[in-house]
Amino acid sequence: MAFLLVLLGFSALGGLAWLLLPAFRRYVAGGVCTSPARLDGKIVLITGANTGIGKETAWDLARRGARVILACRDVNKAESVAAEIIANTGNTDVVVRKLDLASTASIRDLAAGVNKEESALHVLINNAGVMACPYWKTEDGFEMQIGVNHFGHFLLTYLLLDILKRSSPARIVNVSSVVHKWGHINFDDLQSEKSYNGKSAYCQSKLANVLFTRELARRIHGCGVTANSLHPGVVRTELTRHNSASRILMYFLSFIFKTNKQGAQTSIHCAVAEELNTVSGLYFSDCVPAAMGSSANDKQAASHLWDISCRQLDIQWD
Ligand SMILES: NC(=O)c1ccc[n+]([C@@H]2O[C@H](COP(=O)([O-])OP(=O)(O)OC[C@H]3O[C@@H](n4cnc5c(N)ncnc54)[C@H](OP(=O)(O)O)[C@@H]3O)[C@@H](O)[C@H]2O)c1
Repeated sequence: MAFLLVLLGFSALGGLAWLLLPAFRRYVAGGVCTSPARLDGKIVLITGANTGIGKETAWDLARRGARVILACRDVNKAESVAAEIIANTGNTDVVVRKLDLASTASIRDLAAGVNKEESALHVLINNAGVMACPYWKTEDGFEMQIGVNHFGHFLLTYLLLDILKRSSPARIVNVSSVVHKWGHINFDDLQSEKSYNGKSAYCQSKLANVLFTRELARRIHGCGVTANSLHPGVVRTELTRHNSASRILMYFLSFIFKTNKQGAQTSIHCAVAEELNTVSGLYFSDCVPAAMGSSANDKQAASHLWDISCRQLDIQWD
């Protein structure tokens, strides 16, 4: 009798889980970009588009008719992604350009090429990122995560701002993360030279993305270019490549993470949604504006980070 009751209990639980699974999957999937906007005649550049969220974003924007520039470090991998996108969308205007965000020389080369070859640039998606890597330095001596995730995209945006302005209405989309809420900008040791913790350095770099976006939006207000940042969700990508514990967790709990396509929705929404034409300085999650962490509201920190970034990159950006 007891055995029968246990069996019944397990069957009932199993049945309930089976019934709730579709709702759970929908919950995990998060927001969807519902905009039918076409991008024919528009030019889009996406960093880190050879895999993960960037690849899915590129795929979607190509499907909408844009000329898509995949700005990637691994050019061979990017060429095969471009071929895949072309074969599946029928849009032949998908090109690859070399960009290593850990090298200011590479960023300057890429930007010079875009400024010379492209007639316009309507959307810049600063998507590439590195997470919790060992203590590495970029070619220019920046700690790798703040160097690639923040300084690299800061310089790239600076170098492409004029073409974006000339192409207005234009948009800058910065892919940050919800972990910016746990971030702290360590102005005394921005490059983590005194002590290094991979996860804290990642959170710092993602907070820098949000602070940069807010300060940028304020400074370029009224010039026809908007800037927004976003959290894509927790997505099954290669981002955990430097952290075996996170990789194992992601493998076994994959059903609670977004797919790459689901993870790209908020980037796509920020890039195309008509209702965001003049919306700037916001932070999005699941395709809707979301609350930023309290440190992201620190205007003084945003302005200080801006000045330091200009100094370290040796640029004048008022
Ligand atoms: N996955 C998530 O759960 C999650 C959550 C919050 C935020 N994000 C953010 O989403 C963005 C995309 O990440 P993902 O999840 O799609 O990760 P991913 O699959 O690891 O893709 C990261 C991309 O960035 C590129 N990249 C790394 N270092 C670079 C460098 N020095 N120069 C140029 N490109 C470089 C990688 O190129 P290679 O192939 O050459 O390495 C790759 O294309 C990142 O900014 C990340 O912080 C992700």
